[in-house]
Amino acid sequence: MDVNADVGGKLTALQVMQDSPVIPVIVLTDVTQAVLLARALVAGGIRMLEVTLRTPQALACIEAIVREVPEAVVGAGTVRSAADAQACAMAGARFVVSPGYTHSVGQACRDAGLPLLPGVATGSEIMAAQEDGLTELKFFPAMQAGGPAMLKAWGGPFGDVRFCPTGGVSATNAAEFLALPNVVCVGGSWLTPAEALERGNWAQITALAHQACRLPRKLA
Ligand code: 3PG
Repeated sequence: MDVNADVGGKLTALQVMQDSPVIPVIVLTDVTQAVLLARALVAGGIRMLEVTLRTPQALACIEAIVREVPEAVVGAGTVRSAADAQACAMAGARFVVSPGYTHSVGQACRDAGLPLLPGVATGSEIMAAQEDGLTELKFFPAMQAGGPAMLKAWGGPFGDVRFCPTGGVSATNAAEFLALPNVVCVGGSWLTPAEALERGNWAQITALAHQACRLPRKLA
């Protein structure tokens, strides 16, 4: 991935998924750390960053990355309500990831002009998201909900849906997911180990990002 390629303007969910083989799932508690981490990931070739709304500092961290690291494309994760979606849009997030799907979160993202990757784990949830026009979905929690075998099974009835499996995905099993025709990218927290963040080991994070970029990038 060319971290300098233009991604200005409105993104589609597919563009978010195709930028690199892995979307890092990030938990942040400090804005300085946020900026340094974003720079480390971009240096390793990964710029689509999912900052989860799991800490009181998450929105400030999104704002700091937007302001200080223009090469990064920051999205918000763990978005569970329309209010969350509105707040992350105000903070400058460019895409939204949610652990499940509700019509109101879908509507809030459409209103904000933000692409949404909603989490699904059942056929009914896929159908609800499809009813609202969404065909790029996050499979969550991927390993716990059936892993690659589940995605193979969904390839029949939901052959028009493309997935980003997240949850229990790691450097060890990412390639198995990416080999599936209905998987565009995977998500995971393994690029940002908590101890590397605590110690400020940015070189380790850049190395993990480089390694992730060597996984197959799916453009189809
Ligand atoms: C999460 O919700 O934390 C993400 O799915 C990441 O899961 P992981 O830590 O298993 O990669």
